[in-house]
Amino acid sequence: MERFKVKPEVYFNTGALEYLTTVDKERALVITDPFMLEVGFSDQLLAILKNSVPDCNLFSNIKPDPSIDVVADGVKQMLKVKPDILIALGGGSTIDAAKSILWFYEKILRLNGESEYERPLFVAIPTTSGTGSEVTTFAVITLGDKKIPLVDDQLLPDVAIIDPMFVKTVPPQITADTAIDALTHAIEAYVSTEASDYSDALSEKAVKIIFDYLLAAYKNGNDLYAREKLHNASCIAGMAFTNAYLGLNHSLAHALGGSFHIPHGRANAIILPHVIRYNANLESGQETLAARRYAELSRIVGLPATSVSEGVHNLIAAIKVLLTETNTPTSLRELNVDKGQFDEKLDYMSETALNDRCTATNPRSTTKKEISALYIDIYGEIVKEEKKALALSI
Ligand SMILES: [Fe+2]
Repeated sequence: MERFKVKPEVYFNTGALEYLTTVDKERALVITDPFMLEVGFSDQLLAILKNSVPDCNLFSNIKPDPSIDVVADGVKQMLKVKPDILIALGGGSTIDAAKSILWFYEKILRLNGESEYERPLFVAIPTTSGTGSEVTTFAVITLGDKKIPLVDDQLLPDVAIIDPMFVKTVPPQITADTAIDALTHAIEAYVSTEASDYSDALSEKAVKIIFDYLLAAYKNGNDLYAREKLHNASCIAGMAFTNAYLGLNHSLAHALGGSFHIPHGRANAIILPHVIRYNANLESGQETLAARRYAELSRIVGLPATSVSEGVHNLIAAIKVLLTETNTPTSLRELNVDKGQFDEKLDYMSETALNDRCTATNPRSTTKKEISALYIDIYGEIVKEEKKALALSI
């Protein structure tokens, strides 16, 4: 028996924020970050919300990679306000924080035996086009150096508002990083061991939209149509991977990003061509399922091929064009990652990536040594002795 879950309700395209005028609630808590306050987005949201909700409250302390302390402060605010509508306005960190705050808040109320408790309507409004957090059952919070993943259907928002007004001022490089994160979500979901006809439909559309509109949005941030398309693609890719899950690309990106503070989308971008080549495993001489799937994506983005192998190469080449055209570094060396520190962390990163939950649904089963070899390729420097040593030991 397989399962595909469809939730939340999605309001999208220009004007989607108007949904807030239709809610009939008493007390709102808006969870956001200082940047949203600074650029006036939270004020714009409150101006609309006040038409339908008399008591509006703001918690704007969310920082990137939200810590358990910030989540605890948010829970205190929830206990004080007891909202019947909770709104998360921000990027992936803010939406993840709001999900976690609601999750712990509900646990506390249940433990206290609050029988009258009714879950507030939970609305997520993303202000970047990348994480898809507004439609996923995942959240990540930080405790010291550790990332704690939460996975629970209860984390899912009830409503997602995909309004491009919030992304029209995102700078070009963040536009590229976040869109390539979304592209990685769609591609990994497509080749995942949990992929299905349902998730495939979403992955294919998200990949197509990102290839069609990323460069337009990157080169001209005022192209609202391209912004709208990318914002939708990010959400669609989120729906795909919350059902089909991810793979080795994200496992490597999590360990790499944590070790060298590389933005998540940027880390995924550098890794993506390497993991596609690894998963396709063309050198094996067998036509793997993953290779056929990558070739199919190549066809979908308009690069027909006469063989599976050509299709895989075309997809990798097309991704490299996207990276080059968006001035995205293609190796860790290009990103000025110190080689000595890289060598020091290689074993830790390989072990961490191997044990990452995303590795379980990767189409090719892997080993720590193969992951180390991938990281060395991703570093971008041919270190002959290391390669030779790994080749001998694999
Ligand atoms: Fe991601």
